[in-house]
Amino acid sequence: MRTPFVVGNWKLHKTIAESLALVTELKNQLASLRDVAVGVAPPFTALHAVARRVEDSPLVVAAQDCYWEEKGAFTGEVAPGMLRDAGCAWVIIGHSERRQLFGETDETVGKKVRAALGAGLGVIACVGETLAQRDDGSTFAVVERHLAGAVGGLDPALAERVVIAYEPVWAIGTGRTATPAQAQEVHAHIRAWLGRSLGAAAAAAIRIQYGGSVKPDNAAQLLREPDIDGALVGGASLAAADFVAICRAARA
Ligand code: PGA
Repeated sequence: MRTPFVVGNWKLHKTIAESLALVTELKNQLASLRDVAVGVAPPFTALHAVARRVEDSPLVVAAQDCYWEEKGAFTGEVAPGMLRDAGCAWVIIGHSERRQLFGETDETVGKKVRAALGAGLGVIACVGETLAQRDDGSTFAVVERHLAGAVGGLDPALAERVVIAYEPVWAIGTGRTATPAQAQEVHAHIRAWLGRSLGAAAAAAIRIQYGGSVKPDNAAQLLREPDIDGALVGGASLAAADFVAICRAARA
C-alpha cells in the first residue's frame, strides 16, 4: 500500500531562524508518528540549514522549484544537483503559482521533472484546473494536459520517486476546499490516466496528494478517500500545531 505523504509548502515565508524554529518543533512533535511520510518545503535560502536540522529524523526536505540544467550561464537558477547537495530529497514542480505568475508551461514542467529525477530527486508534480476551467467542464482535460506534460512517457520504474499533487487553483489560499467527493473524483481520474500511460504497477504506486486549503478540520475527511494519498499544505503548514494535526489525520 501507498504510505501517505504530507508536505508543507512554505512558499515565500520564513527566514533561516524562523525555518529552524518551525522544523525543530515539527521534528519533536512528529517523532512518534508512524506510517506517514512528512516533508517540508522551505524557501531556497533555508534549505541547507533545515536539511541539517532534520538529518537525524524521518522528516524530508523539498525545494519549491528547480531548473533543468545542471550548470551554465543561467543567472538566478538552481540546479537539481545543487538541491541534492543542500540536502533535499524532493522538489515541487509546476505549482500553479509558478504557472500563473512565472511563466511555467507544460513543456518547462516536463523538462524540470526529467532533470530532477535524473539527478536522483523525488518530484512532486502539481496539476489542477482554475475556477473558469472547472465551470466550463474542462477539469479532466486540463489535468490530463498537465499530467502529459509532467510525467507522460516517464520510465514506470521511477514511480516511487514521483508524486502527483492535485491542487484545484480555486482552492489554493482561498479557504474554499474541494469536497472529499470532488477531490476523489479527480484523483481517481488521475490514477486511471497513470494506468493508461505508465501501466498498472506505476499507477498503484504513485502517490496523489490533494492540495488547496487543507486544514486540521478538513484533512481527515479528505485523506480518508481511497485515492488521496497525502496532502500538499500551504497556509496551514506555517504553524506547527496545524501542520502536526494534518499529519496525524493522514494516519487514520
Ligand atoms: P494552501 O496552499 O494550503 O494555502 O491553499 C496549498 C498550495 O499552494 O500548495
